[in-house]
Amino acid sequence: MGAAGGSSGLSGFSGFSGNGSRQRPRRLRATPTLRGLARETRLDPGQLILPVFVAEGLSEPRPIASMPGVVQHTLDTLVDTAREVVAAGLGGIMLFGVPATRDAVGSGGTDPDGILNVALARVREAVGDDTLVMADLCLDEFTDHGHCGVLSTDAHGRTVVDNDATLLRYADMAVAQARAGAHVVGPSGMMDGQIGVIRDALDAAGFAEVVILAYSAKYASGYYGPFREAVGSTLTGDRATYQQDPANLSESLREVALDVEQGADIVMVKPALPYLDVIRAVHERVDVPVCAYQVSGEYAQIEAAAANGWIDRDRVVLESLTSIRRAGASSILTYYALHAAELLRDGR
Ligand code: PBG
Repeated sequence: MGAAGGSSGLSGFSGFSGNGSRQRPRRLRATPTLRGLARETRLDPGQLILPVFVAEGLSEPRPIASMPGVVQHTLDTLVDTAREVVAAGLGGIMLFGVPATRDAVGSGGTDPDGILNVALARVREAVGDDTLVMADLCLDEFTDHGHCGVLSTDAHGRTVVDNDATLLRYADMAVAQARAGAHVVGPSGMMDGQIGVIRDALDAAGFAEVVILAYSAKYASGYYGPFREAVGSTLTGDRATYQQDPANLSESLREVALDVEQGADIVMVKPALPYLDVIRAVHERVDVPVCAYQVSGEYAQIEAAAANGWIDRDRVVLESLTSIRRAGASSILTYYALHAAELLRDGR
């Protein structure tokens, strides 16, 4: 028997094909309107969050070589971008600070005059409640050693990232960010107990309404490479003693459960595309919204292949974001947030 399809045109059927089936899944793919009706997953700009970098002491935005199209902002260009975020209807803007000086305890993160807190205040003043102003809550950009917490020496004389000493810093940082105007804080340091300590500190300081977006399942990933350039990271070595082993799934479910128990309002899986199975498993397990972070290396891969003409950038941008949503993420942090919103507006 000949194959169905025949010569009757791109979208048509070949008439009786002899395949003996009344079931024709292709029927629902015949036209854009049918495909629209049958579509199971949609992307909405309100589900996208734009991560941005703001650097202290810049007079002009500075390009990030490994992330074409992404820059370190000045305070002024950051505010312009925040206004674009509002105009595009995005769900939020997540700020990362790049300070001019760093020290052992990351003082710049808690200083109200530190770049991140100043930037939060400027952005919040500009956008009000028209989008969500979010802050990365971690010390790595502010420490001279580049680790996400403070260091100490253990009983064997080894230098370690000190979990409980770091929690005290995170508590202060959360309150500083809330005071500066953050609607949402995003603890990304993977210290045990960080969500509970931050929730208590926010509540005690009168910020019960500030939302915690917990980086709950954050893997020790090679996909963060370009981000390290973006924030001028001083890290030598890796974060394998606090971020998760890429080989593990059950561990993520444990991390997520602990964070929800401690008061996380939204939980995050990071990176996104290489961890779709984790997003799905977390989505099935918890009753809080799940967010995913399409990280710098995922962005760089798409950009590099597109620059070579090897893939169609816009198609892959929307396909990758749709896949992350399909896996179970209700919101996505992506450097493509503004661009994707534009594509969606154009009806792509
Ligand atoms: C840590 C942090 C990192 C990213 C977001 N928050 C880097 C790391 O853990 O090494 C990576 C984001 C990206 O790669 O886009 N504050």
